Amino acid sequence: MTAPIVRTKEKLRTLTEKWKANGESVGIVPTMGALHPGHLSLAQAARKATDRVIITIFVNPKQFNNPDDLENYPRTEQDDARKLAPIGVDVLYVPEVDQIYPAGFATSISVNGLTDVLCGAHRPGHFDGVATVVAKLFIQTGADMAFFGNKDFQQLQIVRRMAADLDIPIDVIGCPTIREDGGLAMSSRNLLLSDRARIYAPVLSEVMADMATDLRAGKAMADLQEAALDRLEQAGFASVDYLELRASNDLALLETPSRPSRLFAAVLLAGVRLIDNIEV
Ligand code: PAJ
Repeated sequence: MTAPIVRTKEKLRTLTEKWKANGESVGIVPTMGALHPGHLSLAQAARKATDRVIITIFVNPKQFNNPDDLENYPRTEQDDARKLAPIGVDVLYVPEVDQIYPAGFATSISVNGLTDVLCGAHRPGHFDGVATVVAKLFIQTGADMAFFGNKDFQQLQIVRRMAADLDIPIDVIGCPTIREDGGLAMSSRNLLLSDRARIYAPVLSEVMADMATDLRAGKAMADLQEAALDRLEQAGFASVDYLELRASNDLALLETPSRPSRLFAAVLLAGVRLIDNIEV
């Protein structure tokens, strides 16, 4: 059976207050819809960990850099509800814009430092939009645990910092990246790739996995970067926004994996921006 869809924060609160009064724990999985197996893995993780599971679907206007991108973002609510049915989530929260940003809304949450690098450097304001909407969703749901993908590792760390800084009592859990057979990280954007681009897209994760192996064996980024960029260029990647080794906790730039670290990349393939990261 598909989960009930709730569209107002008042109705949502009626449900969550009842659950809390019964001593039940509540998990939230924030999404923008167009659900794929990566999203569904988060719903499953929540289902295992908490008594009640809320999936939120909200295409957040404050985190888009380009109005066309916002306009064209896929909206597939009925399909999404059907895909979630076998997991047995308790409610789909699908607010209209005025439930999140009522008239006169004037607050923005900025997480300094973590938002200056990687995607933050290429998408001005994006992570402020993410931090603001996620804070609202945490407060509106009163959830005890939240589930995010390591796929968007910078986002995950920004959300953790925001919740800790604002004393929002929620455990933020990072979940593994779900990949297609060839290794390409699943993303709603993969739908935009041409057949030809799809053949080459997995080269990104191959190059990153090889770099991680070499870094673990003692090589430094400076020894590896040029060959990696060459391989990407030969596979048709038009430009590389970044290909960097960074510390997992504070995202500081590293040359060698001297502390827990991840390799991060954002590339353009046939007009589609792909991001990925792996643990080193
Ligand atoms: P969206 O892109 O819909 O992603 C929702 C969640 O799914 C995020 O936590 C993301 O990291 C996770 N996810 C996406 N692809 C994944 C994959 N291949 N494997 C595992 N998890 C994956 O991220 C957002 O929406 C928005 O910024 C949001 C947090 C909802 C705020 O608007």
